[in-house]
Amino acid sequence: MTDQDARKPFLYVVVCAAGIAQDVTELTTAAQERDWEVGVIATPVAMNGFFDTAAVEALTGRRIRSAWRSPGEPRPFPAPDAVVVAPATFNTVNKWAAGIADTLALGTLCEVAGLGVPIAVLPCVADALAAHPAYRDSLGRLRGMGVRFGEPYAGEPREDGGRPEFGWERALDLVERR
Ligand SMILES: Cc1cc2nc3c(=O)[nH]c(=O)nc-3n(C[C@H](O)[C@H](O)[C@H](O)COP(=O)(O)O)c2cc1C
Repeated sequence: MTDQDARKPFLYVVVCAAGIAQDVTELTTAAQERDWEVGVIATPVAMNGFFDTAAVEALTGRRIRSAWRSPGEPRPFPAPDAVVVAPATFNTVNKWAAGIADTLALGTLCEVAGLGVPIAVLPCVADALAAHPAYRDSLGRLRGMGVRFGEPYAGEPREDGGRPEFGWERALDLVERR
């Protein structure tokens, strides 16, 4: 068996600045339990208090990436075997579909779409924003590129104050789908 054969498949988890990101360790832990090696890439806004970055780094054993490496620095993560975007914001979905690459997260998403690896997205977008025609166009464009989407999730609190389950593992089911 070669080193390549022995290596676990590598999953990029792209985290955007939605409130539900506070629970993203549910996803990283579930992915590790399914035998993925996990590397997290977060948007700069998401790094600004949306989730516990120290906990994610402790769990994954890797620094979170949010900014581009310097020229000459080695790539910190291996190439991905699959990519999940969870939670995905209105902002990142629209910019990705438009081919904008002004954050490391967006640059990575624009690039991986051309690699042929499975990509799954769990959007967290309020219904009022999701009604914007640009968002509907973006979903259509990304679906046309082969990107797999979980069910819509608006993140609105229920009457009892709790939030519906985000269903983090759905992202893993989608990338593992044959
Ligand atoms: C507390 C808080 C919660 C937010 N939740 C969401 C959300 O669930 N979905 C969303 O699309 N934007 C949400 N936003 C707005 C995004 O953070 C904002 O559009 C940001 O520019 C997204 O950046 P990113 O796509 O680079 O992560 C939230 C903002 C704040 C302050």
